[in-house]
Amino acid sequence: EKGGYDHFMLKEIHEQPKAIQDTLVGRVKDGVVDLSQELSLTEEEIKGIDKIHFVACGTAYHAGLIGKSVVEKLVRIPVEVDVASEYRYRDPIITPSTLVVVVSQSGETADTLAALRAAKQAGAKVVGITNVVGSSVAREADEVLMTWAGPEIAVASTKAYTSQLIAIDLFALHLARVRGTLDEQTLKAHTTALLNLPQQAEAILEQAGSIQPLAAAIAKHDNLFFIGRGLDYAVVMEGSLKLKEISYIHSEAYPAGELKHGTLALIEEGIPVIALATQKEIFEKMVSNIIEVKARGAHVIGLGIEGDTELGKSVDETLFIPATLPLLNPVLAVIPLQLLSYYTSVARGLNVDKPRNLAKSVTVE
Ligand code: F6R
Repeated sequence: EKGGYDHFMLKEIHEQPKAIQDTLVGRVKDGVVDLSQELSLTEEEIKGIDKIHFVACGTAYHAGLIGKSVVEKLVRIPVEVDVASEYRYRDPIITPSTLVVVVSQSGETADTLAALRAAKQAGAKVVGITNVVGSSVAREADEVLMTWAGPEIAVASTKAYTSQLIAIDLFALHLARVRGTLDEQTLKAHTTALLNLPQQAEAILEQAGSIQPLAAAIAKHDNLFFIGRGLDYAVVMEGSLKLKEISYIHSEAYPAGELKHGTLALIEEGIPVIALATQKEIFEKMVSNIIEVKARGAHVIGLGIEGDTELGKSVDETLFIPATLPLLNPVLAVIPLQLLSYYTSVARGLNVDKPRNLAKSVTVE
């Protein structure tokens, strides 16, 4: 049942090229994303959206954080992202022109469902992004955008997250096309880049073994940091959650530019810092932040884009992902972080697929 892998988590990490591919299939027409077959949102409704709320828990919330950047950049609609257990209690401003997007692998998470119901009650349209056909989210949302990751058994979510990112990218490109915020050429370039992701994810997985020695070293620590800026910050939040969840190592994800406002005090000799530097626009600033932690003795594992010859000069170890459009980097960048968590958990001899205190589906609020 584990298809020759030692754990479901490793199997599911390796299923990502297929999960991405299956989530893309049938959603591209003439080289451009078109979801009008499966969404009933009319052109008029799409043009009437004045804000979007992403609401989700855990890993799905982290997908929503990426969604904010993607939608704001491509569609120019203001987006807020909320943890579902907080959403209802902050008295959010929801109107009939608000679009609420709930993201849930299982489609059964109690807080996410409660948020969905509250949003509908307030007159908003709700789009559900879920991986389970017939789940509560799929049944109750006004519109459903499926992720086709297949069953996810390991408690730690991997292929569901990357598929959620794909679904969000597709949704953003659909909105962008209808609202006319991107020209044809840009729409096509984004679509082509999406279609290349499965093979690029595969290329990362072929190098999976190189992450094992890094994990063996991390397994000896009790504390570490993940840092990044922009989209990389959202990706490190997911990397940090994954590591905590299955390796029981405390880690914190920090926006790299914010370290010097307090947290830098925690950087001491030998502490591992995993630094993502995939975003071209902010690369120089990120390198300065890496130098700040290096100067305090941190052992830095940098993750950059293939072909980059700069990052290696300021870090101790480097990992690379293939080049894609900057907005799509998270889909690839998370994979080495998933593998790092996996191998760290294995190195610590822990129950990778069923970490303590956690359940796959959280049906209590
Ligand atoms: C972490 C993890 C959880 C889930 C969260 C939401 O690896 O799996 O954080 O992402 O419980 O679950 P769904 O997506 O089913 O609503």
